[in-house]
Amino acid sequence: MGVAVVTGASSGIGAALCQELHKQGHLVVGLSRREAPDADEHEVCDVSDRASVAAAANRVLTRHPQIAILINNAGIPARGGFSDIDEDRIEAVTATNYLGSVWVFRAFESGLVRGSYVVNIVSVAGTVAAGPYSAAKHAQLAFSRSLAVELAPRGVGVLTVNPGYVETDGFPQRGRHGIFDRIVVDPPLVATQIIEGMAKDKREMFIPGWYRPAAWFQALAPATVARLRGRRARP
Ligand SMILES: NC(=O)c1ccc[n+]([C@@H]2O[C@H](COP(=O)([O-])OP(=O)(O)OC[C@H]3O[C@@H](n4cnc5c(N)ncnc54)[C@H](OP(=O)(O)O)[C@@H]3O)[C@@H](O)[C@H]2O)c1
Repeated sequence: MGVAVVTGASSGIGAALCQELHKQGHLVVGLSRREAPDADEHEVCDVSDRASVAAAANRVLTRHPQIAILINNAGIPARGGFSDIDEDRIEAVTATNYLGSVWVFRAFESGLVRGSYVVNIVSVAGTVAAGPYSAAKHAQLAFSRSLAVELAPRGVGVLTVNPGYVETDGFPQRGRHGIFDRIVVDPPLVATQIIEGMAKDKREMFIPGWYRPAAWFQALAPATVARLRGRRARP
């Protein structure tokens, strides 16, 4: 089954992915700043720090020269808009959620072979504009879609995953969305759908799938979306 590398392995979706991939027979290497008890092996790594990523990748690739699955999942929240979020947080969310995926891909690229997969955990927020978190996810989405094209000739699959609301420690959702609380899902559902997505050789998926029309609406009618959402925005 091969080696799977999962960033952000210590919590939430990443921890659930470690469990599911281990069940499938993969040897799972988790990368995170905190311990990752659900991974078979763990490397301390700050994905926003290029030197930290290079050192972790070097250690992993020395033990495991071929990587079957590389999952860019590490991410931090930044709730709010461009006027109110702290500037350091805007830098951190960009460095972690977008650039972190780029540095991890580049550091592990030599381990990817024909049949390997890169999975990028983006977000519905990467398809509908809403603040600095969303902007970093838009950049990560463009990275992931670009990579799907760049790696195709080498036989490396790239799967872009856009989850909606998922209840995790870093992104507590339940109790925040009123009647929409019922659409919040849990990490194991996301992990199993991602593994099914790879088995079906998908290139892009929304979890749950019915979030997809929101992305279509934003892409097809950006001016209408701006007007409608602007009317409802608080001063
Ligand atoms: N939950 C949602 O509603 C939702 C929806 C759409 C997309 N997503 C995306 O899903 C991904 C996982 O989020 P989650 O909900 O599972 O959140 P979570 O429970 O807070 O987990 C985030 C993981 O990212 C790791 N991480 C954060 N900064 C890092 C850094 N600089 N270097 C290395 N690891 C770092 C954390 O590990 P350490 O702190 O130990 O480093 C942790 O393991 C994120 O990319 C998030 O944007 C989440």
